[in-house]
Amino acid sequence: MYNSKIIGLGHYVPDNVVTNQDLSAMMDTNDAWITERTGIKERRWVKPGSGDTTATMGVKAAKIAIERAGIDKDDIDFIVFATLSPDMYFPGPGVQVQHALGIKTVGALDVRNQCSGFVYAIAVADNFIKTGMYKNVLVIGSEVHSHGLDKTTRGRGVSVIFGDGAGAAVLTREEDTSKGILSTHLHSQGEHAEELVLVAPGMGKRWVTDILADNNPDDESYFPHMNGQFVFKNAVVRFSEVIMEGLTKNNLDKEAIDMLIPHQANLRIAQFIQKKFGLDDDKVFNNIQKYGNTTAASIPIALTEAWQEGKIKEGDTVVLAAFGSGFTWGSVIIKW
Ligand code: UT7
Repeated sequence: MYNSKIIGLGHYVPDNVVTNQDLSAMMDTNDAWITERTGIKERRWVKPGSGDTTATMGVKAAKIAIERAGIDKDDIDFIVFATLSPDMYFPGPGVQVQHALGIKTVGALDVRNQCSGFVYAIAVADNFIKTGMYKNVLVIGSEVHSHGLDKTTRGRGVSVIFGDGAGAAVLTREEDTSKGILSTHLHSQGEHAEELVLVAPGMGKRWVTDILADNNPDDESYFPHMNGQFVFKNAVVRFSEVIMEGLTKNNLDKEAIDMLIPHQANLRIAQFIQKKFGLDDDKVFNNIQKYGNTTAASIPIALTEAWQEGKIKEGDTVVLAAFGSGFTWGSVIIKW
C-alpha cells in the first residue's frame, strides 16, 4: 500500500467581477445584508461569449497544476472531475478534459456530490493511488453557477451566494505512508436531499418534456432551491464532526491543525468552526469574500491560493472539510 500526495495545484476564475452593489441593481438585495449573512463582497460570473465553461475553466486550472507538478500530461493515469454544473447533461466534463489536454485514452470519472465534490474526488484519487492501480491522478473541481441562477428577488436567497471558478490538483504516489494524504472520511444523509436541490431537468420529478409542455415562467424547478437555515444548522454540526473524525483516526488533537481549508459555503460557518476548534486566524483560510461559494471548486481554489501565499509548508497538517447538498460531507487529513 502507498499514500498519495498533492504535487501540483492550480486555479482559474473568470475575469468578470460581480459586486454586491451590482446584484442590488438586479434584485432587492444590498451589500450590508450579503456581507453580514455570508461575508461575500464579490464573486466571478462567467461573461456569456467569453468561452469560459465548467470544462474549459477546469482545463485551464489543470494545465497550471500539471505544470507545477513538474510532470508531463502523458504521465496522467486517470482524471476525476467534480461538478454540479456540467457543460452538458451528459457526458460529464471529465472526457472533455481528456480531449482538450490531449491526454492519451486514460479513464475519466465524473463525481457529483456538489459542495463536497472535491473532497469525494480526492478520496477516489487517493484510493486508486493507494492500491497501486494508478500513479498520477488529475483531480478537478469546476463550476459555472451563474447561468443557472434566478437573478430576480425571488431567487435572492441563493443567487447572491454562488460564484464561478475552477481549481485542480495533481496527486501522485508517495511511498512513505507517514506523508501525504493520511485519511479521507465521507458521509451522506439522503433524507435531506431536497433541502438543497435542483429538481429539473431530471428523469424523476420534472422531465424535460414536462417543462417544455408547461412553458410556465413561474416554474422554479429549474433553479436551485435551498432551505438556508436548515442547511446552515446541519453544516456547522457535520463540519465539526467530520474534522474530529479525521483527527481522531490519525491520533491528532485540534492543536495539530496547521491549516484548515473549509469549503467556502459561508464565512459565518467557517468562523463558527474556527472558534469551536480554537484555531488562530492564520490557521483557517477563507477567500469566500472574493469568490462567493464556488461549490466543488471552492476547496481547490482556496488550497491553491493558500499554497501560493506560502501559508502551507512541508510537514504541515492540512485539513480539508466540506458539507453540502445531498446532504454529503467529508474531510481529508494531509501531512504536507
Ligand atoms: O455550500 C453548500 C452549503 N450551503 C450552505 O452552507 C449555506 C447555508 N445557509 C446560509 O448560508 C444562510 O442560511 C443564508 C446566507 C443562505 C441565508 O441567511 P439567513 O441568515 O439564514 O437568512 P434567511 O434565509 O433566514 O432570511 C432572512 C431574511 C428573510 O426576510 P424575512 O422573512 O426575515 O423578512 C429573507 O427574505 O432575509 C431575506 N433575504 C434577503 N434579503 C436581502 C434572503 N436573501 C436576501 C438577500 N438580500 N439576498
